[in-house]
Amino acid sequence: MSATKIRLDAIAYGGDYNPEQWPEEVWAEDVRLMREAGVNLVTVGIFSWALLEPAEGRYELAWLDRVLDLLHGGGVAVDLATPTAAPPPWFTRRHPSSRPVTREGHVLGIGARATFCPSSPDYAAACARITEQLARRYAGHPALVLWHVNNEYGGHLHACYCDVCAAAFRRWLRARHGDLAALNRAWGTAVWGQRYGDWDEIEPPRIAPTAVNPAQQLDYARFSSDAFLACFRRERDILRRLSPGVPITTNFMATSKPIDYWRWAREVDVVANDHYLTAELPDNHIDLAMAADLSRSLAGGRPWVLMEHSTSAVNWQPRNIAKRPGEMRRNSLAHVARGADAVLFFQWRAAAAGAEKFHSTMLPRGGTDSRQWRDVTRLGAELAALRDVRGSRVVADAAVVWDYESWWALELEWRPSGDLRYLERVAAHYERLWRAHLTVDFVHPEADLAGYRLVVVPSLYLTTPAAAANLTAHVRGGGTLLVSCFSGIADANDAFPPGRHPGALREVLGLEIEEPLPLRQGETVRLEGGCRGDVWAEDVLPRGAEAVLRYLDGPAAGGPAVTRHRLGRGAAWYVSTRLAGDDLGRVLDRACADAGLASRADLPAGLEVVRRDGAGASYLFLINHGDEDAEVPASGVDALTGAPCEGRACVPAGTVRILVSSLPPWGEGWGGGPI
Ligand code: GAL
Repeated sequence: MSATKIRLDAIAYGGDYNPEQWPEEVWAEDVRLMREAGVNLVTVGIFSWALLEPAEGRYELAWLDRVLDLLHGGGVAVDLATPTAAPPPWFTRRHPSSRPVTREGHVLGIGARATFCPSSPDYAAACARITEQLARRYAGHPALVLWHVNNEYGGHLHACYCDVCAAAFRRWLRARHGDLAALNRAWGTAVWGQRYGDWDEIEPPRIAPTAVNPAQQLDYARFSSDAFLACFRRERDILRRLSPGVPITTNFMATSKPIDYWRWAREVDVVANDHYLTAELPDNHIDLAMAADLSRSLAGGRPWVLMEHSTSAVNWQPRNIAKRPGEMRRNSLAHVARGADAVLFFQWRAAAAGAEKFHSTMLPRGGTDSRQWRDVTRLGAELAALRDVRGSRVVADAAVVWDYESWWALELEWRPSGDLRYLERVAAHYERLWRAHLTVDFVHPEADLAGYRLVVVPSLYLTTPAAAANLTAHVRGGGTLLVSCFSGIADANDAFPPGRHPGALREVLGLEIEEPLPLRQGETVRLEGGCRGDVWAEDVLPRGAEAVLRYLDGPAAGGPAVTRHRLGRGAAWYVSTRLAGDDLGRVLDRACADAGLASRADLPAGLEVVRRDGAGASYLFLINHGDEDAEVPASGVDALTGAPCEGRACVPAGTVRILVSSLPPWGEGWGGGPI
């Protein structure tokens, strides 16, 4: 039996707790301080396999009993991890074939974590044993409210290229393609004489003298995501059997490349995500918002768990910049605004040794007489006051297509330009929508698009016939679509469909592409309307689409750069160059107007505005990332102070306000109210 609700009566607050790094005398103080900070959930045991099973089959769980009892006595619930992300040294020594191997053929060493091959049967068996031990012992423990399997699958080790994986890959290929003739067709092995006559001839796409078959590489990316998923499923199924009723999760890194989280999201009881700011990026709160929106979208709109973020600096970036006063609070509440019902950190107490001792924590080295601690306790109190927000749903205005497979395929070698990158394109479009104060859901290209007036499709290189039909139906039914360059190029095997680009998207976009015309490094092209593109241009041949903006110079001078195609009751826009910033914003504004999304241009820049609607109440999150106070037309009761707010809300620079009202504060949907 699977459960989807975490048994807690407030927003979850806490983080990774690694008591094994400390003498037992410290534990009581930990729990006392957790209470003081409002912590109600901690994740325990993530990397403690070597301590729980110091030798094969010898289990030492008594210390974990004491930790769980102590936490329970202190009113802190537990997210108990299976420790399988860090196999003990004895395991690797005894099972050397479980060591991962890189694409170059290097056998990886130990002394770190994630030191396992996902296809290793020895690893699978050892994981099953320790998982069973934990499940049998703690299934009924009153502190247990959530199971946490492994840690960030695919995070450090994206794929393994060993012989065990080669054999597993062949099995996976048989299941996908059926027979060798089909595989040879799908992979286009007639090119360069790669025809396979025996399954055993097939290898992982290891380093070769030159570019390895792209379809083989794409299938290997799928296989690797599935291989990690099989690891997750094995442990999950043991936990479900032995610990029924307790939800099971694993922590995603939603905006990272190696894992197809759309496939994974169906397999977890609760979606959990880790997010760390790229500290040096200006406006990195927009990147945070994107990750949070993607997490919620993976969860199908349901509340999700922010499993890890940081109170201040991390330790693994080139420059680990500390958060400014107020930033941690804005970050945390922005995740809540975008659907998180849990705010957890890595980690509770600062480590004194090991790889992560420079990482910020909830309880810093300086102890409780510190700004960080005061911020942590304040946030705990505020989240407690926001308990009614739990379960409410974020109201989105538009959808952006997100596709891991397109990301994998677009970035293989030997494309027209290596300067066009998938995540950059998605983030560029997302950023403009964020600045337009639009809230975005991410969708799989084949997902139901009903309810979205505007669907944005950044560089969907790999477009299946089903995805194309879906996007076309959206437009025919009255929706607006905006597609950016290098979309509709290949099918699921990275092969071109018949005819010109953009393949299956020709009909909806009303155009064909004669030739992609990538630009030199640093070269830009001028468009009408004062816009400039870079990286990419195309010879666009309209087949029903009208030119909205033309190229003024560059290799496609005089030709259409941005087009609009009326189809059925809707319209499809196409942008054939790389636009960014205000130039992209101007085109998106016009597509928004087409979609009937009224402009919110008057709202202050830097103000994040997100609404969550619950059963009887609506929560308007106003997060001011700017240096100046902001004022917006809105009414309600301040959820944190209880103060009423009539007509206009002031949000001082760097702060957050949450207004609760019984009715949506500006009416349903776009343009319905004062904003
Ligand atoms: C995460 C990881 C944590 C911790 C954290 C530090 O990727 O899951 O265990 O290492 O990074 O930022």
